[in-house]
Amino acid sequence: MKAQSVLSFFLILTSSLSGFQDTFLLAFFSNTYTNEQTVIGRLDKDVILPSSFESGSEVIIHWKYQDSYNVHSYFKGSDYLENQDPRYANRTSLFYNEIQNGNASLFFRRLSLLDKGIYTCYVGTKIQSITNKVVLKVGVFLTPVMKYEKKNTNSFLICSVLSVYPRPIITWKMDNTPVPENNMEETGSLGPFSINSILNVTGSNSSYECTVENSLLNQTWTGRWTMKDGLHKMQSEHVSLPCQLVNDYFSPNQDFKVTWSRVGSGTFSVLACYLSSSKNTTINEPRFSWNKDLINQGDFSMNLMHLHLSDSGEYLCNISSDEYTLLTIHTVHVESSQKTASRDKGLQILVCPILAVLVLISAVLWIYLVKRRRERDPVCADERATNASGNENESMPLSGCPASTGNETGQDHDNS
Ligand SMILES: *[C@@H]1O[C@H](CO)[C@@H](O)[C@H](O)[C@H]1NC(C)=O
Ligand SMILES: *[C@@H]1O[C@H](CO)[C@@H](O)[C@H](O)[C@H]1NC(C)=O
Ligand SMILES: *[C@@H]1O[C@H](CO)[C@@H](O)[C@H](O)[C@H]1NC(C)=O
Ligand SMILES: *[C@@H]1O[C@H](CO)[C@@H](O)[C@H](O)[C@H]1NC(C)=O
Ligand SMILES: *[C@@H]1O[C@H](CO)[C@@H](O)[C@H](O)[C@H]1NC(C)=O
Ligand SMILES: *[C@@H]1O[C@H](CO)[C@@H](O)[C@H](O)[C@H]1NC(C)=O
Ligand SMILES: *[C@@H]1O[C@H](CO)[C@@H](O)[C@H](O)[C@H]1NC(C)=O
Repeated sequence: MKAQSVLSFFLILTSSLSGFQDTFLLAFFSNTYTNEQTVIGRLDKDVILPSSFESGSEVIIHWKYQDSYNVHSYFKGSDYLENQDPRYANRTSLFYNEIQNGNASLFFRRLSLLDKGIYTCYVGTKIQSITNKVVLKVGVFLTPVMKYEKKNTNSFLICSVLSVYPRPIITWKMDNTPVPENNMEETGSLGPFSINSILNVTGSNSSYECTVENSLLNQTWTGRWTMKDGLHKMQSEHVSLPCQLVNDYFSPNQDFKVTWSRVGSGTFSVLACYLSSSKNTTINEPRFSWNKDLINQGDFSMNLMHLHLSDSGEYLCNISSDEYTLLTIHTVHVESSQKTASRDKGLQILVCPILAVLVLISAVLWIYLVKRRRERDPVCADERATNASGNENESMPLSGCPASTGNETGQDHDNS
């Protein structure tokens, strides 16, 4: 019954290939596959579905999907694509120069998740006919990222993978002990999936690790997060924050990127980064420095000179490759050194008014003198007035005070 319906379907399909039905039918009824292989492809990428045969003349090649869709046909030395299912349009080709050598492999472009399934390749020659089977599996795994977020008094970590298929295995560890995730958000019902796995940070002195594993593609990514003890520094001192490459995670020939950044409330500024592939360092903050010799030993500890009050905050060292992200957070508290602060403030409080009073007094004196001279010598009055205003201009730099004060308030503002 089933065989009959399939047979008639097949006859209709192949009727246009008159003269070749016999060989098609022969192959169709032999349920045994000459060869069976599994191929793993990636979403949006190309793949080769392999098929080989004993070379002979009058080659017919017929690729089908799930026994029902025509993928690619070839006979009499050229493609025959009139019956090709539209979903395969412009996506298939054979290795035409290789066919005479017994190569009927299909080059299959731009895979979608719908392409997964069973493909059969029938090949008939004058001598024999065979059917090869290829099981195609399609996966995707965009490199995940680990994020650290704070909401109110809670802080949590998110391991986030934007595009993944099939559904990955996500595991969390706190201080090397497995812990269950607190929350999971998933979108994309048929795949590819977009997944956020969330864990609350309960002990900020602990290290956390999340592993995302795609078993189909045999790919694993690990994110590790550690928060170091807070450091207290005085204004205008310098700070050194450690961050080292862990050799357990990074093999010598693996490319990675190191980024140091400042994480403020709602702000994120990159201080410096390093690319291992080009050994290229980019430094965005003049007070930041790296030690070149230490970098060559995998030590990315940073130095920040002349600390400002506004340098207080969290510093993130991010070492990332395709397989790992290691995040280390340091908190730095910069305190105003009492002496400097009071002296600076004292200066501003004292000097500004004194200068202002001096300016006022000299201005009043000038006006008084000019008035007196004008009364005595009216001819020179205009000249003197010009001089007076010129003098006033020269005293302008005294108003440079507020500019530096403005700077200070800017910093205080950053701080709050
Ligand atoms: C067929 O030829 C292509 C291109 O040279 C090659 O990549 C593929 O491995 C060959 N397949 C077989 C089964 O020989
Ligand atoms: C296939 O390619 C041809 C020519 O390049 C184009 O005209 C046609 O629209 C394409 N078909 C599809 C389904 O992309
Ligand atoms: C760490 O660096 C990687 C690679 O540059 C980046 O994709 C990721 O978003 C960074 N993570 C954080 C938390 O900044
Ligand atoms: C994790 O934190 C969220 C709020 O950020 C809270 O609603 C949830 O109950 C916490 N879960 C656990 C297990 O502590
Ligand atoms: C964090 O751990 C380190 C060593 O493991 C310890 O010296 C430090 O006191 C701990 N800090 C807190 C706040 O528990
Ligand atoms: C998965 O990858 C690892 C290392 O990348 C390799 O040792 C292992 O053989 C692979 N397993 C499979 C099934 O491909
Ligand atoms: C380093 O990177 C910057 C931008 O990221 C680029 O402009 C510069 O040419 C690079 N230098 C080298 C030596 O690769």
